Amino acid sequence: MTTPAGYIATILLLGSGELGREFVIAAKRLGARVIACDAYANAPAMQVADACEVFSMLDGAALAEAIRKHQPDYVVPEVEAIRTEVLAEFEAAGTNVVPSARATIMTMNRDRIREVAAVELGLRTSRYRYAESLAEVEEAVSFTGLPCVIKPVMSSSGKGQSTVREAGAVAAAWDYAVANMRGDRARVIVEEFIAFDYEITLLTVRSREGITFCPPIGHRQERGDYQESWQPAAMSAQALADAQDMARKVVDDLGGYGLFGVEFFVRGEEVIFSELSPRPHDTGMVTLISQNLSEFDLHARAVLGLPVPEVELYGPAASAVILADRDSARFTFAGLAEALATPGGGVDLRIFAKPTTRPWRRMGVALARAEDTDTARRIAAEAAGKVRIAYD
Ligand SMILES: Nc1ncnc2c1ncn2[C@@H]1O[C@H](COP(=O)(O)OP(=O)(O)OP(=O)(O)O)[C@@H](O)[C@H]1O
Ligand SMILES: [Mg+2]
Repeated sequence: MTTPAGYIATILLLGSGELGREFVIAAKRLGARVIACDAYANAPAMQVADACEVFSMLDGAALAEAIRKHQPDYVVPEVEAIRTEVLAEFEAAGTNVVPSARATIMTMNRDRIREVAAVELGLRTSRYRYAESLAEVEEAVSFTGLPCVIKPVMSSSGKGQSTVREAGAVAAAWDYAVANMRGDRARVIVEEFIAFDYEITLLTVRSREGITFCPPIGHRQERGDYQESWQPAAMSAQALADAQDMARKVVDDLGGYGLFGVEFFVRGEEVIFSELSPRPHDTGMVTLISQNLSEFDLHARAVLGLPVPEVELYGPAASAVILADRDSARFTFAGLAEALATPGGGVDLRIFAKPTTRPWRRMGVALARAEDTDTARRIAAEAAGKVRIAYD
């Protein structure tokens, strides 16, 4: 037994950003002891954890050493970029990897999860091809047609991703993808551009009792990152049922217990699977104000093997991000009181306490509830705009 008296379990958290921070709070409320890991000190989740370790999650030896040192009951990844082979080895030796080593391996690269979804499970996705050279990209583009979206298979938050509208822009998109990918093997996915009416995240919980869904979350993306999200997203009962059916198939295939953020594009009545995170999703931060149990509470419950009840939606709600606009390690926040007093009521804030800023870095999020999602979006955006970052 390595968990000290008084705690229910030890969790090693891999990645310590804002989503990890909220997860730590949720897990600690249930009595867990959490060791937060990331490549830099004083990361958001470390500030609220019991202990921390600083190392790159891609460093297999350091990762194995941290697991051996802390003997966690659960290893909970918060990011995609992890030396997942190490997780598979520890899982084979009895460590509980959340939701499963297979899920972390399949979602680390876009091509693996796409094969699972499109080929093994037969889910509707955009038409796609992989390419490892400019010549292969050209060939892939002739298959998908234009416009298309070119993404490194190893990347997140839209890094290296571009939408190509004309043949003349293909070479630049390939160069951009290669320059902004993770890892050392140049490989991209070329996807048919889906002119969707809207896109959603369907938070799907897989627990001992089975599958539970949160009401769908609508969101708007810019520069590869979400800017605002709202819940519930308006969609037909049939489209929601189709999305739920696809989400169930994919999370059952990946296995394990936890919450998954399953992303879909919706065009008319057609629901198209895009990708998924086997963990809380950034667009799901709206659940910090909209639900009786947030996505972090649900993840903690499922991970710890505790019951997951039907989710209760308090009412229409929205989240809007608070962004930095430059590099700095000397800055302060202002305007919090004004933001919280935004007319319309029901406003809350999360400030992530990241030690440095950079252009477009997400520093916090404003949350609002209102009588409808349009009003909640307006209030959340207004509140986010009132939080100012003052740079020295
Ligand atoms: N084939 C497509 N057609 C239309 N829009 C797309 C397509 N692929 C991606 N997008 C747009 O780009 C956004 C980001 O794409 P995707 O989710 O694949 O990348 P990501 O880098 O994993 O982002 P994140 O990590 O923030 O989820 C999508 O939410 C969507 O708005
Ligand atoms: Mg995405």
